[in-house]
Amino acid sequence: MNRVLKAGLMAVLLFGGLLVSLSGLAEGERRIGAAVYDAGGNLLRPEGFREWVFIGAPLTPNGLNNGSAGFPEFHHVYVNPDAFAVYRRTGLFPEGTVVTKELVLLKPGLHPDGSLDAPSGRGFFAGRYNGMDVMVKDSQRFAETGGWGFFNFGHQAPPYSKSAAAAPAADCAGCHQANAEKDMMFTQYYPILQ
Ligand code: HEC
Repeated sequence: MNRVLKAGLMAVLLFGGLLVSLSGLAEGERRIGAAVYDAGGNLLRPEGFREWVFIGAPLTPNGLNNGSAGFPEFHHVYVNPDAFAVYRRTGLFPEGTVVTKELVLLKPGLHPDGSLDAPSGRGFFAGRYNGMDVMVKDSQRFAETGGWGFFNFGHQAPPYSKSAAAAPAADCAGCHQANAEKDMMFTQYYPILQ
């Protein structure tokens, strides 16, 4: 193969790779955790997300928030695996990224701050599931809220709502836009995304 041909081939390969990363997942990659909508445009509740890539568990307990945290549970956060693979490769969240945040109640403890004593020490431990929020990246569909759709499937024990309508910017997107480090995602709180 002559040198020019080789360079051309390299360019095609590189450009092809770039297209996948910027325009989202290749067709065959849209499998696990892809967003599905009903006829009215509501997002159907993602299934099987506890087997996606677990990226972290922020915790804002009542004991550290004057007894009344907005979300006193663990926040277990998962990303659909195909999107995660693209993020690892490119540092960008591709179109079709789905992020679920499941709230998990703390096991009740006897200490005033809600912590309990375990064989490993005094601390906070996960109890029951208690709610779910979801973000979906789709720059066209959710252009009005920064390219991500935000959905609340309920703040209660499962089963969560079967479907959810996109929340208005004031409910969700505004805070993420103002405070999150990268593309409306709070990557600063997940070492695996840094
Ligand atoms: C006042 C600011 C604020 C509002 C309003 C808000 N969030 Fe968040 N959200 C955060 C912060 C901070 C985190 C990460 C740390 C944590 O979970 O405590 C987060 C995390 C998330 C995550 C995990 C991905 C990430 O970026 O960390 C999802 C999914 C999410 N929020 C969805 C929603 C939805 C849906 C709504 C509206 C119903 C909403 N959020 C409203 C501040 C906010």
